[in-house]
Amino acid sequence: MSADVSVIGLGRVGLPLALSFADRGLRVIGIDKDPDRLDAVRAGTMPFAETGAQEVLDRVGLTLSDRVADAAEADHIVLTLGTPALSHIEIDLRDIRAVLDALLPVLRPGHSLILRSTIAPGTTEFVAGYLEKQRGFDVGRDIFVAHAPERIAAGRFFEEIDTLPCIIGGAGEESGERVAGLFSAFHAPIVQTSPVEAELAKIWTNILRYATFALPNLLMMDCEQHGANVFEVIELINRDYPRGGIKTPGLTAGTCLRKDFAFSEERSNAPGMLLAVSRVNESVPLFLVEGIKRRLGPLRERKVGVLGLAFKADTDDERDSLSHKLVRLLERELADVAVHDPHVATPTQSFEDAVADADVVVVATNHSDYAGPDTLRAIQRAAAPDCLIVDPWNAFGAAQVFAYAAEVAALTAAP
Ligand SMILES: NC(=O)c1ccc[n+]([C@@H]2O[C@H](COP(=O)([O-])OP(=O)(O)OC[C@H]3O[C@@H](n4cnc5c(N)ncnc54)[C@H](O)[C@@H]3O)[C@@H](O)[C@H]2O)c1
Repeated sequence: MSADVSVIGLGRVGLPLALSFADRGLRVIGIDKDPDRLDAVRAGTMPFAETGAQEVLDRVGLTLSDRVADAAEADHIVLTLGTPALSHIEIDLRDIRAVLDALLPVLRPGHSLILRSTIAPGTTEFVAGYLEKQRGFDVGRDIFVAHAPERIAAGRFFEEIDTLPCIIGGAGEESGERVAGLFSAFHAPIVQTSPVEAELAKIWTNILRYATFALPNLLMMDCEQHGANVFEVIELINRDYPRGGIKTPGLTAGTCLRKDFAFSEERSNAPGMLLAVSRVNESVPLFLVEGIKRRLGPLRERKVGVLGLAFKADTDDERDSLSHKLVRLLERELADVAVHDPHVATPTQSFEDAVADADVVVVATNHSDYAGPDTLRAIQRAAAPDCLIVDPWNAFGAAQVFAYAAEVAALTAAP
């Protein structure tokens, strides 16, 4: 089963990466412990949506295995395992530790181990030290360890793998060069740095986004308190202002943004600052529920149609989506909640059923399917006559977080 590269963890990061290597002519071993995932790939079916991935899967071959030790058949071993945060404000390294322990007996000089997962600062040096301690290797000379963080956005993998600068933080003398050799299979520029700088660059890429979206979300709540329109204030801030701009509000979450701040918060110099950012984004669903109650009164037995379960637009990824939190909070108000999402695996109702006779419709995910006048007209036809529309994304273009359907229609009607 000899190969050029093994990829351990065929998730949303690992599978597209394995396919991309194979598409460049490398012999790839894909390893996962999840039998359903392996069966799907073996059957030639992408287990999740990623633009262009099915076409690549149709034309390339991967050798598949559920045994981590098989990874040692390749010189390069890439780890694309999940790295959640523990509730202790600490990275959960259990999957990485389990795979390292399974690899220990089979690692040999010449191997390179690449951490592609998002990891807390210091993790690459920990992994290098662990291999030295357990096997007596000289990392950077006998075997090679590097962090090459994944920064590609879901849905753009096959475009960005060739364009986004590929950051490589190699431990010891030669690790960076060895791993650069592997990633030169792609066209993206390679940027060499130290392990900790690569770790910080990835985490802070996500912290920047998470904090960037917290600001308009906080402004949205402040505007409600002051009786102001958040979209008008944003327009005032941004109009013809040359020094950057504020983003627009929304339900900001997802498996990466929601937990990566914790890796920095582990040993922060400003403890609590990033937790506050998280608190702002996490409180948006409650803010929306409270806003609905302020306008309609108690929600018991009122029908609420929730549009969108995915964590962001046009993806089928629901992990850590705030839509689920919104649904839970609405259910705790004893509302009758109906949900529609055109993309996710979780079964949802049809659009028509979700909005039929609804007292409230919330655009929880800004899927392109929901944007524009057709969706609004369909809601107006089917929902209760005085239906409240909650649209923090401004999907309908009325620039109102809370407004009644007739108001939204009037504000968006062509002149
Ligand atoms: N999803 C994204 O868009 C994205 C983007 C950038 C970075 N990241 C980071 O990349 C990493 C992976 O993310 P993901 O979304 O692909 O995760 P994922 O949960 O989709 O995939 C992880 C895979 O690893 C497998 N696995 C776990 N333990 C294993 C073991 N012991 N042996 C073999 N297989 C094992 C799981 O079955 C799963 O298929 C995380 O650190 C994440 O933070 C994700």
